[in-house]
Amino acid sequence: MPALDYLAAPGEAVTRMDAVRVRRRGVELGWVVPRTRDVTDHTCLARHWAAARPIYLADFVTAEVAEHGEHIAQALALMEAVLAEADLEDVLHAPPYDARLAPDFRLLPAGIDTGDAQEILRLDFDAYAGERLLAEDLWVKLSWLSFHPDDTSLRFRFSFGIEGYENVAAHWDKQKLAARLTEAIFPESAIVSRNSFLRGLLTSILPVDDVAYVERIVYFNAPNGGAQFHQDVERGHLGVVFAQLHGRSLWLALSRQQLLQELAAFLRTPAGHVAGYPRLRALVADAEGLAAALEAGDEVVEEVLNRSPEFFAHLLRQGHGWLLEPGDIILLPQQSQEHCAWHSVFCADDFPGHALSFAIRERPVDHQ
Ligand SMILES: [Fe+2]
Repeated sequence: MPALDYLAAPGEAVTRMDAVRVRRRGVELGWVVPRTRDVTDHTCLARHWAAARPIYLADFVTAEVAEHGEHIAQALALMEAVLAEADLEDVLHAPPYDARLAPDFRLLPAGIDTGDAQEILRLDFDAYAGERLLAEDLWVKLSWLSFHPDDTSLRFRFSFGIEGYENVAAHWDKQKLAARLTEAIFPESAIVSRNSFLRGLLTSILPVDDVAYVERIVYFNAPNGGAQFHQDVERGHLGVVFAQLHGRSLWLALSRQQLLQELAAFLRTPAGHVAGYPRLRALVADAEGLAAALEAGDEVVEEVLNRSPEFFAHLLRQGHGWLLEPGDIILLPQQSQEHCAWHSVFCADDFPGHALSFAIRERPVDHQ
C-alpha cells in the first residue's frame, strides 16, 4: 500500500505513467503518484488505534484474494447485472446463488421501495433453520453512492429491521444472520471474516477477547465515484475493516483530531487564504467552533474537505493519502463522534473496483 505524493493540479500536463487522476462526481482534484511501498509501524498499532488513527495493512490478504478469484469474478458479474438492470430476483434464484442461499435463506417476492432516492433495490429475506423461522426482516439494500450521472459506484448493504431505528448491535442473533447472508451472496467475505491473522491482530490491539464482523457493506467504487469525507461511528461497534479485493482505491484517512488540525493549518496557509473561506478562517482560533462546523456538516467545510484541490494536496503532503491495492486492508477506529477516523475514498482506476467494508464489534458469548 504505497503512500502518495501530490504530482500536479487539475489541468496540468502529466507525463508519468504511474500518475493517477483523482476526480469524484465531476470534481477534479489533481494527479497523484505512489511514493514507496509504505506501511504503518506495526509496533505501535494499539497506540494508533487508541488515537483513532487509521491502520494500513499492506498485502495482508493478497493470498486470500487470489484463492477467492472465482468468487470475486462472480461479484463483479453481479455488479454488471445490476448496471444492466437485470432482474436480481432471477439472478439470485439461479446458480451459483440458489444453492448458496438455500435452504437457510428464502428471498421474498418483491423489492420494497423505502423512498430513498439513492436506493436501487431492497431484497428481503427470511432465515430458517430447517423449517424453523429464525428471522423475517433481513435485507440487502443496493444503493448508488451518488446522484452524479457519470458515477456508477454502488454498494450492497446487509442488515435487518427498520433502518435507522434499530440499535443494531443489540440484536446479535440477527447481526449474525445478516452476516451469514453476506457470505452466501459474496463468499469472498471470508477473506476478512475467517482470517485468523486479522482476528489475532484485532484482539491484540482491542480490549476484547474476540471480534465479529457485522453491518457488512460490499462496495463497487467506480471511476468518478467513491465516498465523500465521513466517519462511521455506530453504537456498539468498535471500528471498520475495509479490504480491497479488485482494482485500487485512493484514500484520505486520519483521526478527527488530525483532520481538525490539518483543516486549521490549511486555512492559515496562502492556499487556504486564496481559496477564500473567511468565515472558516475566523474559526481557526476557535477549535471548538471548527469542530462544531465539521460535525454540523457545514457546507463550506464540506466544500473544503471534498472539492478543494489545494486541501487535497495539503493532506497528501502531510502523509494522509494512501493507495489501496488488491490484498491491502485499512482499519478505521470508530470509538465515538469525538474520537474516530474520518475518511474519503476515490476510485483509482478506469474500471470499477470491489471491496469489503465490515463493522468490527466484540463477539458476544453465544448461548445456543
Ligand atoms: Fe466509511
